[in-house]
Amino acid sequence: MYNAKAYAAGSAVSPLASTTVARRDPTEDDVQIEILFCGICHSDLHQVRNQWKNIMPTVYPCVPGHEIVGRVTRVGSAITGFKPGDLAAVGCMVDSDRTCPECQAGLEQFCPNLTLTYNFPDKHLGGVTYGGYSDSVVVDQRFVLKVPSNLDLAGAAPLLCAGITTYSPMRHWGVTKGKKVGVVGLGGLGHMGVKFAHALGAHVVVFTTSPNKKEDARRLSADEVVVSRNAGEMRRHAGSFDFILDAVSADHDIDAYIQLLRRDGNITLVGAPDKPLAVPVFGLIFRRRSLSGSPIGGVPETQEMLNFCGEHNITADVEVIPIQKVNEAYDRLLKADVKYRFSIDMASLRAE
Ligand SMILES: NC(=O)c1ccc[n+]([C@@H]2O[C@H](COP(=O)([O-])OP(=O)(O)OC[C@H]3O[C@@H](n4cnc5c(N)ncnc54)[C@H](OP(=O)(O)O)[C@@H]3O)[C@@H](O)[C@H]2O)c1
Ligand SMILES: [Zn+2]
Ligand SMILES: [Zn+2]
Repeated sequence: MYNAKAYAAGSAVSPLASTTVARRDPTEDDVQIEILFCGICHSDLHQVRNQWKNIMPTVYPCVPGHEIVGRVTRVGSAITGFKPGDLAAVGCMVDSDRTCPECQAGLEQFCPNLTLTYNFPDKHLGGVTYGGYSDSVVVDQRFVLKVPSNLDLAGAAPLLCAGITTYSPMRHWGVTKGKKVGVVGLGGLGHMGVKFAHALGAHVVVFTTSPNKKEDARRLSADEVVVSRNAGEMRRHAGSFDFILDAVSADHDIDAYIQLLRRDGNITLVGAPDKPLAVPVFGLIFRRRSLSGSPIGGVPETQEMLNFCGEHNITADVEVIPIQKVNEAYDRLLKADVKYRFSIDMASLRAE
């Protein structure tokens, strides 16, 4: 065991602060990674503030962070795919049972014995897992991804959650050329959704509550932008979408978007507000529309997404911050004021 530097929250109401956490020495199947950048996902904020207490109560201290890129520093004796000095990435999962039908299908995100990167029982050390707001991490090689060498690392980190969470449902629901696709909420997930839908050839419409994001949405390759608080603008799109990705982190009117789907259209929720959303069923019954959810993606699809990003030169638009500004970044996330993902430069933690 060794101590790693980290930032942790001590309770649902305390700010994140500097600390150390125990990490295991790499076993034969492990890769030890020096973390260079870690993205800030809105899920980190939900979890730190215990907003998902009914589903996944937070254990304190909580070290969040599941958008990790870094360099390999040590590898176990059974590792062939990585060597010291290689780039490596870790997303939302660090282990699973590897034997269930979901794991066998490469859909580890549905494994009943999944271990998430933070706030999940740690099979090796007891207690809970600690995430990427840290200078290093030790992860089983099966959950370590390869980062295409042409990508900017600060902008690549958010691909590990915001990227795969938006890529996976778009692939599942057949987003391709000729489809009309909506993306609701231009934050970390939403802006990745826009980039992927565009790269997959769709006609992309962004729905935002923030009129000041209109120009950015176009720059991010949206074909159209709708300010969702404008009922007239919304009505113009009634019954016209094949697929809508909803990436909103708070309560909102979901029926307003169901009404925009065509026959057999689908709206997938990736945003995870703590309170239930109201869903009037008639919007679904008429036109046989469907409403789904989707969690991250499996290991093979995460690697596929990273390779796709390498080929299309896709990264997140990031504001790189030192870790000492993490609490300020959380306050800004709550105000929908991020352009469009915070990425923590872990050199700032190493310098402490
Ligand atoms: N399913 C999964 O596997 C998964 C993975 C990662 C994250 N998530 C969840 O996805 C959600 C989004 O995460 P994120 O990191 O992208 O968050 P984010 O960067 O904070 O973006 C959320 C966006 O939602 C919009 N929004 C916020 N409050 C709103 C409100 N009251 N009404 C309408 N729109 C509002 C804003 O966009 P505009 O300014 O454009 O309106 C905001 O930028 C979070 O709940 C997170 O926990 C789920
Ligand atoms: Zn996330
Ligand atoms: Zn499994």
